[in-house]
Amino acid sequence: MEVLLLIGPPGSGKGTQAKLLESQLGYDHISTGDLIRAEIKSGSALGERFSECISQGKLVDDRLIFDMLQKRLTSANRTGIILDGFPRTPPQAILLDELLHRIGAKIVGIFSLNIEDEVIVNRLSARLFCSSCGASFNKHSKPPKLSGICDLCGGELSTRTDDIPDVIRARLKDFARLKDAVTNHYHKSPVWLDLDATQKPEEICDRICVFLKNIVQKGESKA
Ligand code: AP5
Ligand code: MG
Repeated sequence: MEVLLLIGPPGSGKGTQAKLLESQLGYDHISTGDLIRAEIKSGSALGERFSECISQGKLVDDRLIFDMLQKRLTSANRTGIILDGFPRTPPQAILLDELLHRIGAKIVGIFSLNIEDEVIVNRLSARLFCSSCGASFNKHSKPPKLSGICDLCGGELSTRTDDIPDVIRARLKDFARLKDAVTNHYHKSPVWLDLDATQKPEEICDRICVFLKNIVQKGESKA
């Protein structure tokens, strides 16, 4: 199984790129944020704990999120997966290395989406989220065809509970605190690529695809 990692601050476009890559490459998109939101929606006791963390912009426990990811992997497409938002901490990166080694999977691309905090606050303040299918829109860069209605499933669009300015800033602070440690874990990898996350989504996706093609040609498919 081939694994792509999307690393970047909140609002850097991890989910947007994962969706584009999913349709280009046929890989399975796994977002730990989506797994958490599904658990919250289920109304479970665990979901209630997650809800508290998310609404304060805090990360959830490493082990809990890793167990959810492991469970999700059992139903994953065997060709490849795109991990969106995992790992976020050094312990998560170590747990992931061990897991991938155990299941014989390899990281073939690590994509770091770089963007200024101010751009992020503007983007996330304009994001709209479909509570039925999880699709993401943006009042400025990707407005829905009908105001308040999801283009894909007709569901109602709303704002994510963690997309309010104070919570966005708390999420950004957490990302900044852990960024170097996670980056150092992977940065010497030959499959690491830094990207400018302010380019158009399709341009970023094209760069990723070209990079992956070159990696395959060079045979450098090891993190
Ligand atoms: P998660 O859902 O992963 O949130 P996040 O990392 O904060 O990232 P976002 O989903 O907000 O942004 P994104 O990078 O996906 O950007 P998007 O493509 O949507 O996690 C939520 C929470 O769960 C975390 O805060 C934490 O509490 C917890 N959690 C999750 N994983 C965890 C883990 N591993 N460990 C512990 N806790 C964890 O784009 C954003 C907006 O910008 C959209 O409106 C989009 O249309 C627009 N946009 C995207 N790309 C572009 C572009 N190139 N140009 C212009 N607009 C763009
Ligand atoms: Mg996302």
